[in-house]
Amino acid sequence: MNNLVQSIRQQSKHIQIRKTKFIAQNLKQQYTDSTLMSHFLTALSMTFPKGERFFVETIRNVRNKIDDPNLQMDITGFIGQESHHAQAHELFNKSIQSADYQLSKYTEAFEKEMLRLRTLSYRRQLAATVALEHFTAMMAGYMLKHPDFMFKRLSPNMKNLWLWHAVEEIEHKHVAFDVYQSVFSNLAQRRRSMRTITIGFIIGITLMTAHLLWQDRKNSLYKPNELMKNITVFLGLILMMIRLSPEYLAFYRADFHPFQIDQNDLLEKGRALILE
Ligand SMILES: [Fe+2]
Ligand SMILES: [Fe+2]
Repeated sequence: MNNLVQSIRQQSKHIQIRKTKFIAQNLKQQYTDSTLMSHFLTALSMTFPKGERFFVETIRNVRNKIDDPNLQMDITGFIGQESHHAQAHELFNKSIQSADYQLSKYTEAFEKEMLRLRTLSYRRQLAATVALEHFTAMMAGYMLKHPDFMFKRLSPNMKNLWLWHAVEEIEHKHVAFDVYQSVFSNLAQRRRSMRTITIGFIIGITLMTAHLLWQDRKNSLYKPNELMKNITVFLGLILMMIRLSPEYLAFYRADFHPFQIDQNDLLEKGRALILE
C-alpha cells in the first residue's frame, strides 16, 4: 500500500452513524433549481433502498473472513450508514410519488436486476458493490464540490437528506474495497465488474431520468424558460462526466485504492454544512 493511502487511513476517524433530520413530508417533485436536476437526483434515489441493502448483504456474506478488527469496525459503520440511507430514501421515494409521477415501473425492473445479481458468486456480488461504491463516492464528491450545480435552491430539509448521504458515502468509500481486497483480491474481476456496472448504471439512470422528465413534461419540457435551464443542466451533467473521468479511470489501475482520491477537504466542508 502506498504512503498516501497509509497516512489517510491513520488520519481517518471511525465511521460515525448519524440519524438524518430529514422529514418525508410535503415534498415537491421539483426541489432544486431545475426540473432536470430534481428528476436526476430522484432517479438516483430510486435505486438506493434496494441497492444499498444489497451492498450490505454482499459484505455480510464474507464478513466472517475478515480478521482485522479495524476493518470489522468499519464494516459495522458501513452497515449502519447504508441501512439509514436505505430507510430515508425509501421514505423519500414513497412521498415524492403521485398518480402522474411514478417510480414503480423502474422499481420493478430494478428489483429483478437485484435478484439476478444475488444469483452470482459472492466474489462477483461484492465486486459489483465495490464498483457501485466508487460511483457513489465520485458523485458525492462532485455534489460537495459543486453544490451550486447539484443542490441549487435545495431546502434545509432536503439538505438533511442529500448532503448527509453525500458526506457518509465519502466516509465509508473504502470499506467494500478493503473487504474485497482482503477476501478476493481479484483484479480482473474488479475491472470486469466495473465495465458492466458502468454500462448498466449510466443506461439505467439516463432512462429513469428521461422517463421522469417525460412524466413531468408540462413543467420540464413545455415551458421555454424551464427547457432552457434543463438544456444548461444537461450540458452540466455531460461536463460532470468529463470532469469525473480521471477518477473513474483510476479505478482500473492495479494499485488503485479509494483513499488515493483525497476528498478530506470536501468532507470537512460537507460535515460543516450538515451541522448548520
Ligand atoms: Fe448510501
Ligand atoms: Fe455507500
